[in-house]
Amino acid sequence: MSSSKYRTHSIAEIGLGLVGQSVTVAGWVDRRRDLGGMTFLDLRDHSGLLQVMVDDPKLVGDIRAEYVVQITGTVAERPDSQKSDNMVTGDVELDATKVTVLATSKQLPFQVSSIVENKGENNLPGEDVRLKYRFLDLRRPAMQKRLSLRAKMMWAARESLHKMDFEEVETPDLIKSTPEGARDFVVPSRLHPGSWYALPQSPQLLKQLLMVSGVERYYQFARCFRDEDFRADRQPEFTQLDLEMSYVGQEDVMKVGEQIIHDVWKACGYEVKTPIARISWKDAMDKYGSDKPDLRFGNQLVEMTDYFKNTPFRLFQQDYVGAVLYSGGAALHRRQFDEWQDWAKQRGAKGLAYAVFKDGEISGPVAKHLSDAEREGLAAKVGAHDGDAVFFSAGDRESSQLLLGMVRREIARRQGLLDPKKFAFVWVVDFPLFKRTDDPNDDHVQVGHSAWSPMHHPFTMPREDWIDTFDKDPEHAMSNAYDIVCNGLEMGGGSERIHRTDIQNRVLNVLGIGQQEAQEKFGFLLDAFQYGAPPHAGMAFGWDRASAIMAGTDSIRDVIAFPKTHAGTDLLTGAPAPISAAQRAETGVDEKPEDEQAQDSAEK
Ligand code: AMO
Ligand code: AMP
Repeated sequence: MSSSKYRTHSIAEIGLGLVGQSVTVAGWVDRRRDLGGMTFLDLRDHSGLLQVMVDDPKLVGDIRAEYVVQITGTVAERPDSQKSDNMVTGDVELDATKVTVLATSKQLPFQVSSIVENKGENNLPGEDVRLKYRFLDLRRPAMQKRLSLRAKMMWAARESLHKMDFEEVETPDLIKSTPEGARDFVVPSRLHPGSWYALPQSPQLLKQLLMVSGVERYYQFARCFRDEDFRADRQPEFTQLDLEMSYVGQEDVMKVGEQIIHDVWKACGYEVKTPIARISWKDAMDKYGSDKPDLRFGNQLVEMTDYFKNTPFRLFQQDYVGAVLYSGGAALHRRQFDEWQDWAKQRGAKGLAYAVFKDGEISGPVAKHLSDAEREGLAAKVGAHDGDAVFFSAGDRESSQLLLGMVRREIARRQGLLDPKKFAFVWVVDFPLFKRTDDPNDDHVQVGHSAWSPMHHPFTMPREDWIDTFDKDPEHAMSNAYDIVCNGLEMGGGSERIHRTDIQNRVLNVLGIGQQEAQEKFGFLLDAFQYGAPPHAGMAFGWDRASAIMAGTDSIRDVIAFPKTHAGTDLLTGAPAPISAAQRAETGVDEKPEDEQAQDSAEK
């Protein structure tokens, strides 16, 4: 029972059981209707809507939408014909005897009424307006539901972790830089003019220190800060469910990860079958053109490199040629295929060749360039039937596969196959330890100074069979890292960590990070490892992404109370904002640190 200073019940509690009784409720006026001398107010609180009938005009005055009111009245059963399924309280209404205005509201920039909301989010203004008035946007029942869902997920995760003997430990936000592949956000230090803290890109190094400290099973809902290019699934400030364990390996962490997923999804009404399927990184790229494959649907890529080995068509004489089927695609008009070309070019591709299978013929710009044999076998090779089309990408393997992967998902989207109520989890495993620093498909900042960058982060353990040789053959070396993917999003990832100084130094060597730089950047971790570091491993879930997946929305902004725009701005508070000259002087941002001053004067 939610009785308090202002009410005897919350709205969802008002039902047939209270008919004839006097109750007091409080909330927002969702909607006002004046009908033949009577006024009907829909009253809304966090729990639901209630219809209130006021037959004395003096009681309601000029009350309008979003006024906060307190209403006392008698609960009455509605006539059968007026019962409503749209409200939790649809069987009853309140006969008002007293109406008190607790707060008035200015004219709204947009309607937040649940009635408007039932017509869908299309009726909303642009996201910039919603973000500026986020406090109103969040008042909408759909957003309330998303916040509640996220809270329920957090609660379930904590419960799951406590059952598995994890302890929550907080780690600081004002720290030294952590190399997770993004730019740092930095904070000036007033007491040490010219020196800066970095905000953590994740608690990675701190949780590893906790393992050296003997915590054994750590977790934390941690805020992470990364200055990178923001997208629908990337924010400058985001939340991880971060965890780490001692004396465990990859399998142990994956088991814990699966238990958490199982328990969290269960709390929200879904049964996730464990163990969750696995796919190697290479297979994911070859079959789905993505290291985060969407497995809600099939339609694997078809590798055509061998098929076109001796092709007369110059465009297909490349390192890699692949295809993706568009079932029913022959119905597309020429103009629509042209739009696909533009779509591909916007994503950095040179083009998107295609062929169309119709009335026993193959057409499209590619067909005439192929040999007779190539044309003949094509349908069978790509699995096409009459009425289908097929897209091709040729070029370097990774870029072409990534493009086809995007095409595959876009086709599925157009075919309505991206069901938000279906959750296709998969572990991506067998990641390479390193990737090329000049990889055009990667937008992370360089961690070291060599041709090789860490695929995950510099503290990831090489796979057992590569421990002796990873630095001799960085191109092929494999790691013990794993990502959890759901519906085409990387929802989390982790790895076994290096706990031996000799291996760590060899990895840093491959990355081109010298002893001195390593000492400066994360000497504290390397030092700690000299004092008995247990073997350890862990992972982190991107909690905003997990929540967005559960809520069935494409944008993590929908599940963050106060998110930032693509440009990293906060339209509600106006951050980031200039600071005053006095504030600037006080923070010491223009000062040089003491040792640099010393160095300057030494050089003079
Ligand atoms: P990683 O960098 O893969 O690993 O991050 C873990 C998960 O966090 C989410 N994520 C983001 N979510 C929103 N906005 C962002 N900018 C953003 N960046 C990442 C993703 C990702 O899978 N310390 C390691 C974890 C570990 O090894 O234990 C780490 O941070 O869902
Ligand atoms: P063209 O002979 O120039 O008309 O090109 C034939 C088709 O190949 C066009 O549809 C182009 O968009 C497409 N195309 C160009 N470069 C590539 C590529 N690297 N991979 C796949 N298709 C391409």
